[in-house]
Amino acid sequence: MMKISPSILAADFANLEREIRRIPDADWLHIDVMDGIFVPNMTIGPPVIRSIHNATRLPLDVHLMIDRPIRTIKDYLAVGASMITVHVESDTPENITAAIKAIQAGGAKAGLSLKPGTPLEALKPWLRHIDLLLVMTVEPGFSGQKFMHDQVAKLRKAATLRQRGYGHYKISVDGGISSSTIAAAAAAGADVFVAGNAVFSSEDPNGAIRLLARRAEEAAQRAKEDEGR
Ligand code: DX5
Ligand code: ZN
Repeated sequence: MMKISPSILAADFANLEREIRRIPDADWLHIDVMDGIFVPNMTIGPPVIRSIHNATRLPLDVHLMIDRPIRTIKDYLAVGASMITVHVESDTPENITAAIKAIQAGGAKAGLSLKPGTPLEALKPWLRHIDLLLVMTVEPGFSGQKFMHDQVAKLRKAATLRQRGYGHYKISVDGGISSSTIAAAAAAGADVFVAGNAVFSSEDPNGAIRLLARRAEEAAQRAKEDEGR
């Protein structure tokens, strides 16, 4: 089942509870954590995520764009994250392994992400251990950027590896997802669609979610039919 995970990076941070109430059909809630070091922007941390957790029943899909996340995994577990994704570029391989283990030991799902310039091969050591593989289709840091079509091949490769038994992860796509770009990502095999601008800049955010879901389902169905031909 496909999932839409609206990114609150594009929401009004002064009115988060109201913004979240506007999206009852969201499957997950995507929360971008940035530290001003790993990416050139800063957002929110555990205290605000705790408040969000108290305000919604949506599973919290926390995307850590921070340096050496192993230091604070426990804090994100403590405030109710259902999924915690770390970046492969953010620490040593040993610490990435430790972060994934800490997330899963804490009862959450572990995600691993990569920047557009990082090849999928960089994730190979962890493919069998992760629950979520998050492909960035913009440079991490900001909402409202253009979808990088050259990353679609990476999504397809992630889907092929999974098909071949290299892991059981869900494939998430993050950056520039809109009603016009979502079909390419869905056809390539993505299961989870993060969308900031396309949802929260819409006058009808919940309608935008339903449209995205419909487009994704249609594109995946079409891809399946083409494969069978
Ligand atoms: C970018 C973030 C994304 C961002 C997506 O660093 O990881 O989650 O909010 O926003 P849109 O959908 O507007 O590209
Ligand atoms: Zn994100």
